[in-house]
Amino acid sequence: MNFDFTEDQLMIRDTAREFAQAEIALSSIERDIKAEFPSEIIKKLGELGFLGMMVSPEYGGAGLDTISYVLAMIEISKVDASVGVVMSVNNSLVCFGLEKYGSDFIKEKYLTPLAKGEKLGAFALSEPEAGSDATKQKTTADKDGNYYVLNGMKNWITNGQSSDYALVMATTDKEKGHHGISTFVVEKEMKGFGQGKKEDKMGIRSSDTCSLTFENCRVPAENLVWEEGKGFNFAMNTLNGGRIGIAAQAIGIAEGSMDAALKYSKERKAFGQHISNFQAVQFKLADMAVKIDAAKLLTFKAAALKDAGQKYYKEAAMAKLYSSKIAVECALDAVQIHGGYGYVREYLVERYLRDSKITEIYEGTSEIQRMVISRALLDEK
Ligand code: CAA
Repeated sequence: MNFDFTEDQLMIRDTAREFAQAEIALSSIERDIKAEFPSEIIKKLGELGFLGMMVSPEYGGAGLDTISYVLAMIEISKVDASVGVVMSVNNSLVCFGLEKYGSDFIKEKYLTPLAKGEKLGAFALSEPEAGSDATKQKTTADKDGNYYVLNGMKNWITNGQSSDYALVMATTDKEKGHHGISTFVVEKEMKGFGQGKKEDKMGIRSSDTCSLTFENCRVPAENLVWEEGKGFNFAMNTLNGGRIGIAAQAIGIAEGSMDAALKYSKERKAFGQHISNFQAVQFKLADMAVKIDAAKLLTFKAAALKDAGQKYYKEAAMAKLYSSKIAVECALDAVQIHGGYGYVREYLVERYLRDSKITEIYEGTSEIQRMVISRALLDEK
């Protein structure tokens, strides 16, 4: 077993780290307060090749592996998890699915600008009555000549307002249950496509999350991804990679929390000495370090399996389940170490805590990850 990263992987990590410090860190508190989308930062991330990291250069991507993607996601999310999720959705949920399952036409027309960062994508699976129970899609897509006519509503859509294209799951044949669901690329400008108001969220506030509506929205038949009836499998296969991205985002939040707690504990004095001298603080820091390392091992394992072309859905679920759990725990402990200062915006850790919670919810709740893992175990035995 080799635990060393390649020089190229380390270079990607360092580039992401430098970019995060130079371009993201300073504005993160203000953007969180104002719930302001990081448009300029996202544009620059695109120019760096960070929005289509794993896409082949043939389609405008950087042609990197999943390990590099995880390293970059950790560095970006360590500084601002809102930027992390925008990056994660475009890379894992949008570009990955289009490259793997899209037609040549779709790859040329949609994947290429998405991978270059010229356009931004969203992934629209969740509905008001189909969250964890994602097979219960109510949005419909009826064939009408060379078009599909979409009607329905999606919610909790990351990049909802800021995206140019959305991958939309909709039912093309109700009789077939989840085998009657299909995926379409829908352009923002298409008539009948509406973007709702931005949700006022607890965390990742500068990312944009909104509902999408479809009212007799006519989508050309050539925008069908893969084939009719494969939309649910498309969503599940794509989400497996997405879960690696969210695990990396969670690790970034956990590491950011630990770094802040370490720094603060060496500066803050109480009872005549630095609080880093107290075992109560030291043990919290030790536990954080162990948890972060364990989360990284799980996440890099899932990424390595994906890169090796092996099955990775169970490992991706394990990585997300554990990394999101420890992100919340590390952020909570970092707040505790900061005491009252941890409860105010200036010291960052309160944002880490607010940001951490969503990693246990989106791209499959922790309960869904346990379902995926336990089903895989039972199938393997
Ligand atoms: N990988 C690949 N395929 C999977 C899969 C996985 N992890 N999990 C399920 N499937 C496949 C099954 O193999 C089955 O396929 P076939 O019928 O073709 O053989 C199909 O999906 C249905 O599976 P089940 O029969 O097990 O259906 P179920 O209803 O009992 O369970 C579920 C399905 C696992 C609960 C699924 O609905 C699920 O994952 N729900 C969570 C949805 C989710 O993650 N939503 C996130 C929204 S996107 C988001 O958050 C993005 C964002 O903006 C940040």
